[in-house]
Amino acid sequence: MKIATCKAPVNIAVIKYWGKRDENLILPINDSISATLSLDHMCAKTTIVSSPDLTETRFWLNGELQSTGNKRFQKCLEEIKKRAKPDVECLNWHLNIVSENNFPTAAGLASSAAGYACLVYTLAQIYEVDGNISSVGRMGSGSACRSFFGGWVRWLKGEKNDGSDSLAIQVAPENHWPEMRVLVLVVSDHKKAYSSTSGMKTSVETSELLKYRAENIVPRRVEEMVQAIQNKDFPTFAKLTMQDSNQFHSSCLDTYPPCFYLNDTSRVIIELIHAYNEFREETKVAYTFDAGPNACLYLLEKDVAEVIEMINYVFPSEPIAMSSYFKGKAVPYTTIDEKLMYMLINFRQPEGKLKYIIYTEVGSGPLVLKEAEDHLVAENGEPK
Ligand code: DP6
Repeated sequence: MKIATCKAPVNIAVIKYWGKRDENLILPINDSISATLSLDHMCAKTTIVSSPDLTETRFWLNGELQSTGNKRFQKCLEEIKKRAKPDVECLNWHLNIVSENNFPTAAGLASSAAGYACLVYTLAQIYEVDGNISSVGRMGSGSACRSFFGGWVRWLKGEKNDGSDSLAIQVAPENHWPEMRVLVLVVSDHKKAYSSTSGMKTSVETSELLKYRAENIVPRRVEEMVQAIQNKDFPTFAKLTMQDSNQFHSSCLDTYPPCFYLNDTSRVIIELIHAYNEFREETKVAYTFDAGPNACLYLLEKDVAEVIEMINYVFPSEPIAMSSYFKGKAVPYTTIDEKLMYMLINFRQPEGKLKYIIYTEVGSGPLVLKEAEDHLVAENGEPK
């Protein structure tokens, strides 16, 4: 019997991936760049057991048995096996795969990226595969390929039809910009958004803006973003991040029929951040939104306390314990000055527009967990 347990991180793009040139291999129409978020606060965890005694391959996600017929799941399994040396004993054994996310999947927080990266990374331990396996994760979910590295990561779109050059590389390691912080504002929203997969397919089929963006804007923006990250140039980094998020959502609106991912709360956040940056006469915070209403704010540690106070003032929480409203790193405290408070009055929202806030930072790539207590299975190889 063989067993492996790993953790893999979430990543949040600052130059967005939206659109495939090959649906089957999951090859994108443009490069994208993201930061990998700390494993301490948001991650996927997977245990895989491989044994000659198992009679079928089974997969549990967050405690529920899943179908293993899923095409993307099958593809990842097949591809990682192709990379194993033929004499690896367990290649023909069945598997028990047990996966969990330590953050709500329903919140639409890049859970498929962390999940597929974790699945593939753990399979690689079982089948003793090394090297850059991000292109295998890519076949599970495009954005997953950026979760194989820590720090700042670029997914190269690649040129080849077989996808062999469409993989992730690290632009800068996790300790490169130690002051960088991330606030994830989880927006209350009950509607189920259109999935990224189907949304981007319609965008590719119908949006001329998306085509123009991929061909003429992203190539330049990616180079500028790499420079801004390497130089730790926050104002340039922040401007590019916000412009790219807005252009991605413009392409969604240009899609026919359009897909709306932002809601009214998201739009208040956008206006608030611009008003704050203007008030402080410096770009201090950047927002970015994926295929949902939740905001991800990038900012430097020195500004976190004031920005959190501002968010608390504009978005009062429902009366719940602060410990369940704020997740992640310990939240610093300050008071906001009167002039800022005055500026914020018009932004004030009714209670409960935000569900909770995760305060985190840039972190490492996937990790192998060696302790027996880390395994998600009991001694019989079944979920604990
Ligand atoms: C908006 O990776 O979820 O988060 O490849 O079809 O699985 P599939 O899509 P997915 O798309 C994520 C898109 C995004 C932007 C990004 O992460 O770059």
